Amino acid sequence: MIKRIGILTSGGDSPGMNAAIRAVTRVAIANGIEVVGINDGYKGMVEGNFRPLIKEDVSDILDRGGTILGSARLVEFKDVKVQQVAVQKLTEAGIDAVVVIGGDGSYRGAMALTQLGINCIGLPGTIDNDIPATDFTIGFDTALHTVVECVDKLRDTSSSHHRCSVVEVMGNRCGDLAVWAAISCGAEAVVTQETGFDEEDLLERLRYLDSVRRKKHAIVVISEKITDVNELARKISANTGFSGRATVLGHIQRGGSPTPSDRMLASRMAEKAVDLLVNGIGGHCVGIVDNAIVSYPIEEALKMPKKSRKELYQLFDRLV
Ligand code: F6P
Repeated sequence: MIKRIGILTSGGDSPGMNAAIRAVTRVAIANGIEVVGINDGYKGMVEGNFRPLIKEDVSDILDRGGTILGSARLVEFKDVKVQQVAVQKLTEAGIDAVVVIGGDGSYRGAMALTQLGINCIGLPGTIDNDIPATDFTIGFDTALHTVVECVDKLRDTSSSHHRCSVVEVMGNRCGDLAVWAAISCGAEAVVTQETGFDEEDLLERLRYLDSVRRKKHAIVVISEKITDVNELARKISANTGFSGRATVLGHIQRGGSPTPSDRMLASRMAEKAVDLLVNGIGGHCVGIVDNAIVSYPIEEALKMPKKSRKELYQLFDRLV
């Protein structure tokens, strides 16, 4: 029977991580289990940077973006010697199990710790929605709201000036944020890792939208890490009837108060994480599939293929 659970947030933060911290803490305490916050992700774990969490410590955080525990990326955590130090620190602090909130890199750490005897459960906390074992990750919905709000504003000014706004969104190597935003905002083009990038094709499409469709503006939503968007905007000005402007939304997408949907998701997933640990299960990650909260062994989850969004891209094309 576990007596004390540790909780940490790792990798890029996402709105809703605090809601998950709150729910893990309160559900665990309701089960008679103590909770320890691990500061700054795996880095804090290795340093033994812990603090006890009682119900009151997680008051007034449900609506706050970021993570009260802090987050970090620790590349060295791949090293088994570093993992052993972490296990030692956890054992000294009487922590028998850990909930890890983060992306797939964080899941690998959780799997390694489980193999070393500390049961861990992973919760998907990332705005990228790039974890195949879940339909949605905690923070994706909030980031999408932020992107949509920004693009709606850009459309106003683009229309006034017959401009094409190239909007770069995050997502790492996953186009979900881009394609969801493109459909939700009625964009004129979407470019992601999945669509590939053909610059001449895009310029031709914009010329058509200007001269044949007589569009007052054009919005191009493009995933990060594809091309230099400022350069692309210059080419749009030089080669189409629109004047091009680039906006990189950047880390603004990672902040802000989580949407009710992300708060619900975080709370439901956190409850499942505690239930799994109470039942002696470790090395699993939690997901939501067809609105049911599920869990998979992390090893299996990491091998799952990337989800195809073919239908969404097809819908996008039909809506333009
Ligand atoms: O994984 C979340 C994410 O925001 C990605 O979308 C982005 O590529 C990356 O993190 C940015 O990382 P950093 O905050 O370390 O610059």
